[in-house]
Amino acid sequence: MSRKPFIAGNWKMNMTVAEGTKLITELKPLVKEAKCDIALCVPAILIPAMTKAAKGSKIKIGAQNVHWAEAGAYTGEISADMLKDYGVKYVIIGHSERRQYFGDTNDTVNLRTIKALENELTPIVCVGETLEEREAGKTEDVLARQLEFGLFGIEDVKKIVIAYEPVWAIGTGKTATDEQAQETIAFIRKRLSKMFGLKDANRVRILYGGSMNAKNCKGLMAQHDIDGGLIGGASLKLDFATIVNYDK
Ligand code: 13P
Repeated sequence: MSRKPFIAGNWKMNMTVAEGTKLITELKPLVKEAKCDIALCVPAILIPAMTKAAKGSKIKIGAQNVHWAEAGAYTGEISADMLKDYGVKYVIIGHSERRQYFGDTNDTVNLRTIKALENELTPIVCVGETLEEREAGKTEDVLARQLEFGLFGIEDVKKIVIAYEPVWAIGTGKTATDEQAQETIAFIRKRLSKMFGLKDANRVRILYGGSMNAKNCKGLMAQHDIDGGLIGGASLKLDFATIVNYDK
């Protein structure tokens, strides 16, 4: 089953219009020959300017969050219609930082994912265990719950991208080993297969995220079940192009 590789950057709360425009302008020629899908998920306020900067390239601009209501009194949130206005294609949902600092739960992840799909946005649904959970041998339980509740009632799982981001590997420089990442992502695919059937599970792209960089990307991408990366720190630099060109 061939799944098209997908390298996505998550800028988190970084970059001004000038900095972002400069980076994208420099990245464009470097990613011209890439075989994979490419996205940069930028802060909402940068979406218009970065969309303009990325025009004519393979880089698609994505968002980092979407609310489940159509519109209304939800200060600080952003709706699917607003994202669609700018031609946004991807949206990160349930990143561990949203779960940790902004109250996202498996239930709100579910609501946001459903809303994204209703609006033909591709959700990049993040799952992953903390160090404490891994050390207590609870990784599989945690992931199973995140998938079961986060993807509850989803009809077409093929339209979703999953990002496995072990919380202990995010921003720490401590990457999961190729084997750890492969093993855990294979478990995720197995769970998806239980929930949605083998055929559909085999078509879901599952990314690895957590200190993925220009050096370790090749080894991770060589793993059978790893279809791409969700890149934080390294997506703020030209290193992102090296990751996108991991197969060169
Ligand atoms: P780092 O690549 O900076 O560890 O961040 C990973 C991440 O959280 C991407 O969403």
